[in-house]
Amino acid sequence: MYHLKTKFIFFSGKGGVGKTSMACATAVYWANQGKKTLIVTTDPAGNLSDVFEQEIRHNITSIGGADNLSAMEIDPDIATREYKERLLAPMRELFDDEILKIAEEQLSGPCTEEMASFDKFVNFMEDGIYDVIIFDTAPTGHTIRLLELPVDWSKHIEDSAKGSGQTCMGPVTLIQENKQKFDDAIAKLRDIDRTEFIFVLQPEQTSLDETVRASQELGKLGIQTSGLIINGLIPASETETSFFKKRYDMQQTYLAKIHQLFNMSIRTVELFDTELKGIDMFRDLAAKLFGEGEVIRE
Ligand SMILES: Nc1ncnc2c1ncn2[C@@H]1O[C@H](COP(=O)(O)OP(=O)(O)O)[C@@H](O)[C@H]1O
Ligand SMILES: [Mg+2]
Repeated sequence: MYHLKTKFIFFSGKGGVGKTSMACATAVYWANQGKKTLIVTTDPAGNLSDVFEQEIRHNITSIGGADNLSAMEIDPDIATREYKERLLAPMRELFDDEILKIAEEQLSGPCTEEMASFDKFVNFMEDGIYDVIIFDTAPTGHTIRLLELPVDWSKHIEDSAKGSGQTCMGPVTLIQENKQKFDDAIAKLRDIDRTEFIFVLQPEQTSLDETVRASQELGKLGIQTSGLIINGLIPASETETSFFKKRYDMQQTYLAKIHQLFNMSIRTVELFDTELKGIDMFRDLAAKLFGEGEVIRE
């Protein structure tokens, strides 16, 4: 059943730069190519429901008006509940109430919440029924943290096994089997044939600085940045007024700087005169991003 080698595409960047829009356009693009595609948001403030104009939430939901496309918004609270229950269920048969209460308390910290979201995310990194899985992520810091976790993981579980046998994720003996799953996820994140990591940025200093920093952080985790999307360029045709001409010139300077700094695929998206939502809009955006009929790396 698990014959497919799923391709993973991550969209990262500062808040508001256009991650969700580019992730949605990419998802619509791949679905249009006949690939079974899932877009997942790991952003606790994820808004796929708004942009696809239908209710999605913490369930894999088919998107109307597009064949082959499904979406899901990871809800951190539900993910935490599911995760705790999965760890506690096998303990219920083995231990008395007192021990269970202690275990429940140990699973109530912020670390468990972090682990739960990560665990959910790692489940999607397993091969399965999708050709392409797109991750619309939370603003950069949160995402880097999410990706650091599996890299910390092996060490943490090894140390805990030697010491108290307790981790913030539960007793070592119960979670040891996850180690393989996590190691597989790390290997896939580092494999440039399986995973693309795309930063979305605006052509301005703060956005550029953050991209340079985040790309270096990723590099430290052994994950390469595969491409950039520079979003929000003012069209050359709109530079008749000095206000927009000035902004246009500034953007072009940053564009040149970005090309100097990054030797990788760089795509650009102009500012639209509307907001970006709905399948038709994302089809439009996909055509602009990828060119009509162009197929990016299979
Ligand atoms: N090229 C663009 N032209 C016009 N509006 C855009 C463009 N890119 C993004 N937007 C709008 O900017 C807002 C933020 O974009 P979004 O994709 O949600 O960013 P992020 O996910 O990074 O926070 C949204 O309202 C979106 O419709
Ligand atoms: Mg977003």
